[in-house]
Amino acid sequence: MAITTASAPGKIILFGEHSVVYGYPALAVPVNEVQATCRIEPLPAGTGVVIVAPDINFTAALSTIPGNNPLAAAVRHALAACVPSPMLSARITVTSNIPIARGLGSGAAISTAMVKTIGAYVEHTLSPQKLADIVFAVEKIHHGTPSGIDNTVIAFGQPVFFQRSHPIERLSVGRPLTLVIGDTGIKSPTYKVVGDLRRRHNANPARYNGWFQSMGRLAADARQAIESGQLDRIADYMGRNHALLQQIGVSSNELDRLVSAAIEAGARGAKLSGAGWGGNMIALVGDGQADSVARALHQAGAVQTIVTTVG
Ligand code: MEV
Repeated sequence: MAITTASAPGKIILFGEHSVVYGYPALAVPVNEVQATCRIEPLPAGTGVVIVAPDINFTAALSTIPGNNPLAAAVRHALAACVPSPMLSARITVTSNIPIARGLGSGAAISTAMVKTIGAYVEHTLSPQKLADIVFAVEKIHHGTPSGIDNTVIAFGQPVFFQRSHPIERLSVGRPLTLVIGDTGIKSPTYKVVGDLRRRHNANPARYNGWFQSMGRLAADARQAIESGQLDRIADYMGRNHALLQQIGVSSNELDRLVSAAIEAGARGAKLSGAGWGGNMIALVGDGQADSVARALHQAGAVQTIVTTVG
């Protein structure tokens, strides 16, 4: 079998994080500037599968790795999906430059790159939906109760309008959006923020459901604004979505500082993106503004910025 490689992008959520877990729609786009990459090379027959993840100093034979390890789970689920399940002897190496636990979908991208590469290596075609379904099974190990948006946007590799238990819809972009992503540098595992929010929601469902409903409405309205290229409306909705995210308790001083710095530097709109408490925020900028907004974000404490264009 021939050496095979494949990659998967990072992602950001434009609108509707958290409310998407409760069944409301959300919008997400791939971030191609960061990637997870997998490479598979054959080993002598009978050796079995060895997984190597140099970024985290991990090397182990698949047969020795426990079931709750997401790297091993990605391989096992992928092999099970390729009928008849092949007996592989191969080294599977995965690397990623997507910051971990910052809302950029690093876990889903790593799983997607691995599953895609395994499918290509054993010459079994996996549709984007099948890929998304396999990665979703692995996401449950990372996040407990994922909505499915991360694995979907990354497996499809295109902007999506996502709602749980609904067929995926493509989000078309009427006018390109330039976004500056600002990283607080604070790791914030999604399962912790989602779990904490779930406890607060359970204690006061009426209040939280009202906020989630408003977020869902914003996501639906933002879809129209994005499809018709109305930047002012998109920017306004970003501000409103951030305020709702503050109300449900998932922002942080660091995120709020970056959001304010972006607006003061002339960004049209800004909000946190992903689970919150740390991780990343996004700013929508006009022509020629990306550099000055990125500089302002660094001055306000961002450890990294990424400029990406959607559409
Ligand atoms: C994480 O990228 C987005 C959240 O809405 C969680 C999820 O959708 O599973 C916070």
